[in-house]
Amino acid sequence: MQQPEPRFFKSIGGLHGVSCVFPKFRDVIDYEENKIAVLQAYPRFVTHPIIKLHENSYKRKFKATGAISFHSYESAVFFTIDFLFKKESKIYFDEGLPREICSILNEKFPDVIEESDSNDAEYLILNSQEGKFPHAIKGKKLIGLLGSQNLNESATNLKFEILIIHDIDNDIGIILFFGFRYLMLTILRRHIGFNVSSRKMCRRNRIPKELYDKYELHLKENISNLEHGKSENCFLYPSGMAAIFISIFSILSKNKSKIIALGSLYVDTIRILERWPKNYDLSETIFIHDDIIDNLKKNIDDNTAGVIIEIPSNPLIQLVDVEKIIEIAHSKNAKVIIDNTVATPYNFNPFDYGADIIVHSTTKFLSGKNNHIGGALLLNDDELSNKIERFNNLINISMPFDDLKTLTRNLRTFEERMKKINSNSEEVAEFLYSHKKIKKIYYPSLETNPSYELFKKYLKGGSGLISFVLKESTEENAEKFYDNLLPPILKGPSLGSEKSLLCPYVILAHFEDSKEELEQLGFDFYLMRLSVGIEPVEKIIYSLNHALEFVI
Ligand SMILES: Cc1ncc(COP(=O)(O)O)c(C=O)c1O
Repeated sequence: MQQPEPRFFKSIGGLHGVSCVFPKFRDVIDYEENKIAVLQAYPRFVTHPIIKLHENSYKRKFKATGAISFHSYESAVFFTIDFLFKKESKIYFDEGLPREICSILNEKFPDVIEESDSNDAEYLILNSQEGKFPHAIKGKKLIGLLGSQNLNESATNLKFEILIIHDIDNDIGIILFFGFRYLMLTILRRHIGFNVSSRKMCRRNRIPKELYDKYELHLKENISNLEHGKSENCFLYPSGMAAIFISIFSILSKNKSKIIALGSLYVDTIRILERWPKNYDLSETIFIHDDIIDNLKKNIDDNTAGVIIEIPSNPLIQLVDVEKIIEIAHSKNAKVIIDNTVATPYNFNPFDYGADIIVHSTTKFLSGKNNHIGGALLLNDDELSNKIERFNNLINISMPFDDLKTLTRNLRTFEERMKKINSNSEEVAEFLYSHKKIKKIYYPSLETNPSYELFKKYLKGGSGLISFVLKESTEENAEKFYDNLLPPILKGPSLGSEKSLLCPYVILAHFEDSKEELEQLGFDFYLMRLSVGIEPVEKIIYSLNHALEFVI
């Protein structure tokens, strides 16, 4: 297989930036076709060069096939056990962390796996602080947990499938795998979002716990105030996906085993919903795209753990009748999870309508500067909150100190930014709507939008995401449009920043999907997604108008 050519595109957001400029449309296609590799981009997708160096040094030292870094050692261990925790797996769990994680999984999902003794098991998960492992383990797949950075000499000849290292200096976990069948772990980490923060890797000294707690509490109070929630029931994470994964994981159990997803959802949320319930031998997720209320009524039952929605959905900017959905869900004792990343608490407060769980990718509008990645989870339920806190402590997951600080600083301008983003977006949407070379535009405050009535009922403003399709939606036209965009619009993925960002979203997020899958999701392959920033609106419109002149 040919190796992709490494390319360094300009980072958007600096050393710890979460996006990069893809200068040409062709670059986006080449990236998706694996012809080029970008060196710094969205951190869950592209490992930061500082972290990559570190992963590579472990890979060399232990002669592994691959190395994947994790937010913490404990989260790496959870991730591995969760990966193996499937029907018919026969696993021996050693004392300590493996047993504790296994007992949480067994409590929630009994009967999925059989805990085996070490003779009977296919996998042995062995826990060692000093790097010593028992000799002569034959015919077993060996997963070694190394609570330190070095393997004892006596264990160097053992054939591990996976070795999990606690990099104590940086307080992170490293999963080393031996053999290509574990390559997919890299993608699964992207979905679950337990990534290492590049800021954390740059820090040389440890933060005293009291100082961390003080900053964390302050940020939790800020976000809880914005969302009309309680800071005791607010949790912060290294990514939005970690918040989403934990919210879904926390409500699933054997007796409440079904999730219903309404409308179009962010791609990695879909991936989690496709994979994890199946993993735990639960009901498959029901995805509903049309006749939302009727189909929800038809599909919901006592077994439903939760209903998940985005307000508005990304990228089709659809709204749903939140009040009705909450009423239907609660009638069956199901929780309602609302991803409020796009609307933001400036425009909408789900708790005011009785939602149970709010999740945020704080990477987006809450941060607004492309220089932070993180997530927040807020709950309206003390009991569930206690369970999540226990789980967070077990897997040692939180938002790293420097990301907390960056977000706290960026939040100071949140309301000002959102006010401008709302008003700029309305003007840009009106411009695109009336342009003859645009076939379709998705923005909720347009009177022609199917969600307009719901917009008036629920939202203070339409927020910053506008998706649109060119009149003649062909590769040639998409390329002409994209290549001729001018500043201030930056041509990069991500959303929610004070800088306008545009990307061919479906190509970036759904490149591998079949035509039928795209049709079912309602996506045009060349759909453009614009995240409007706070620049003078006439400049944003000038850039779009200029690019549209090149389009047939
Ligand atoms: C609506 C929405 N939710 C969640 C996420 C995931 O957040 P993060 O990238 O911070 O993990 C995204 C990412 O684009 C998103 O658009």
